[in-house]
Amino acid sequence: MDKLAQLRQEYMRHQLTEDMALSDPVSQFNVWIHEAIEAGLPEPNAFILSTVGENGTPASRTMLLKGVDQGGFVFYSNYNSDKARDIAFFPVAAMCFLWLGLERQVRISGPVTKVSREESEEYFHTRPRESQIGAWVSPQSQVITSRQELEDRLNEMTEQFKDTEVIPLPLNWGGYKLQPVEIEFWQGRPNRLHDRLLYSEHESGGWTIQRLAP
Ligand SMILES: Cc1cc2nc3c(=O)[nH]c(=O)nc-3n(C[C@H](O)[C@H](O)[C@H](O)COP(=O)(O)O)c2cc1C
Repeated sequence: MDKLAQLRQEYMRHQLTEDMALSDPVSQFNVWIHEAIEAGLPEPNAFILSTVGENGTPASRTMLLKGVDQGGFVFYSNYNSDKARDIAFFPVAAMCFLWLGLERQVRISGPVTKVSREESEEYFHTRPRESQIGAWVSPQSQVITSRQELEDRLNEMTEQFKDTEVIPLPLNWGGYKLQPVEIEFWQGRPNRLHDRLLYSEHESGGWTIQRLAP
């Protein structure tokens, strides 16, 4: 425990001032994620997705961002998974990106909708063939008896699709889009006096930027 209490890192590398921040948060996000990619950070598109279940229990898990535009942030998953069940009940979520190498965090929240089947299909077919078959194999979030059950199912599906050139998109697999309502950019600064800029959407469609205390 002492070791944990002694861990301490000063954040010195960058700053985020009102002058530097772009007026549109999606553009600002694009600048930061590209800097994370350029910096060679591992899995720069990974984020934590938090949802709320029917009984009010929150759940978080790591996901990969697969697209972003003015309409929102896109990720892919199994439509029968626990997260899918949460989203069907409460169609809102929060995303949290952590780029420790740049001493940065971005938090995003807003409503979530499924992307069109065409959009899911287009992305699905860019995945390696094995990953496409994998989507057919895994009953994500369900209890299974053993690793062997997955391996057997993989062999079964590989055999089933051996003469199929284009693996079809499973009905229970596809994309979600989170439409941002709030986006907060956090930049670590010395003495724990970090920069936090919160973008909130106003009804006319523009964005208000406010500085939050760290
Ligand atoms: C680095 C990393 C990336 C992941 N990316 C995804 C993803 O894009 N989609 C997904 O469904 N699960 C992804 N997972 C697995 C999820 O974290 C989670 O285990 C799975 O989606 C089941 O979550 P659920 O039971 O809450 O629905 C990823 C896990 C890690 C560690």
